[in-house]
Amino acid sequence: MSQKYILVTGGAGYIGSHTNKLLSNAGYNTIIFDNLVYGHREFVKWGTFEQGDLLDKNSLRSIFPKYKIDAVVHFAAYAYVGESVGNPQKYYQNNVVGTLNLLDTMLEFGVKKIVFSSTCATYGIPESLPITEEHPQNPINPYGKTKFMIEQILKDYDLAYGLKYVALRYFNASGADFDGELGELHDPETHLIPLAIKAAYESDYVLTVFGDDYDTYDGTCIRDYIHVYDLALAHKLALEYLGSGGSSECFNLGNSVGFSVRDVINEIEKLSGQKVKYKIGSRRAGDPEILIGSYEKIMKKLQWKPTYSDIKNIISSGLRWYILRFEYVQEVK
Ligand SMILES: NC(=O)c1ccc[n+]([C@@H]2O[C@H](COP(=O)([O-])OP(=O)(O)OC[C@H]3O[C@@H](n4cnc5c(N)ncnc54)[C@H](O)[C@@H]3O)[C@@H](O)[C@H]2O)c1
Repeated sequence: MSQKYILVTGGAGYIGSHTNKLLSNAGYNTIIFDNLVYGHREFVKWGTFEQGDLLDKNSLRSIFPKYKIDAVVHFAAYAYVGESVGNPQKYYQNNVVGTLNLLDTMLEFGVKKIVFSSTCATYGIPESLPITEEHPQNPINPYGKTKFMIEQILKDYDLAYGLKYVALRYFNASGADFDGELGELHDPETHLIPLAIKAAYESDYVLTVFGDDYDTYDGTCIRDYIHVYDLALAHKLALEYLGSGGSSECFNLGNSVGFSVRDVINEIEKLSGQKVKYKIGSRRAGDPEILIGSYEKIMKKLQWKPTYSDIKNIISSGLRWYILRFEYVQEVK
């Protein structure tokens, strides 16, 4: 039991699997804890897989005595904003109660470092742009509220029990592994880029663009997309920071540059040579016209900055993953 391990909850999912690959390649020993409700067993190509559920405290408690866990990277959660409005119980149970189970088990076994997947959804409707970490947090849906509550719990657990955390507030995770081994595979998929790629390749799928009358340069919503590899790198830096005795912090992970829905469609068409079939739908309730995050704080503190998050890298890696997965024979430019 001399080897140290990093416990990666939700490591069979999109961001968790990319982070697991990066950590493993950097020499970390990882344990992947996932119930596979939304994750994919075939994404766990590195580290040790332990299937289990955060809501089952016994399955969590069985892991800690087996490995010398040094820190936890906590991705496991449900993350469908729309579903969380109709079924908040599912979200408070899984995200909040599941995290409490995890934190309590960590404390029981003396593990006091955690990197937590938070979200820009904790800010709600932006009052100023780019959004900094000081921006008020007024989440407008149960999903965002669960993440905000967990941030509050982490703060209190630090004060009372000395649990050190880094909460990373991601903007829109996007793109795929550059080797084509992993990619975005949510089911159902609700994210723009994989859906727009699908609309380029599948003859019977048409993308709905939610509103084209926003006050933006082309009328469609602008979002801050951050390449999943940049996200993964930030988790490694956060682990190193906590490992060197860093105090608890919240950081945005955005790229400070926004792309509109039309920018995304145009880039997919340019790089794939395919037409993205789309129709204009009505606006969705609660969708702000622009969401852009400042990364200044994490740049100053952890020397992280987005390196792979230009639109070409994001779309081309996503396209390559899609083409490999569905065996389309085509070159991505
Ligand atoms: N994708 C984004 O753009 C984005 C943006 C902001 C924040 N986040 C957060 O990042 C994290 C990862 O997101 P993702 O896109 O990779 O999602 P994902 O659904 O691909 O991954 C989540 C993983 O957690 C697992 N899981 C869920 N509940 C579990 C439980 N009770 N016990 C064990 N495993 C469980 C799922 O099976 C899945 O493999 C989530 O916490 C999400 O809220 C994602």
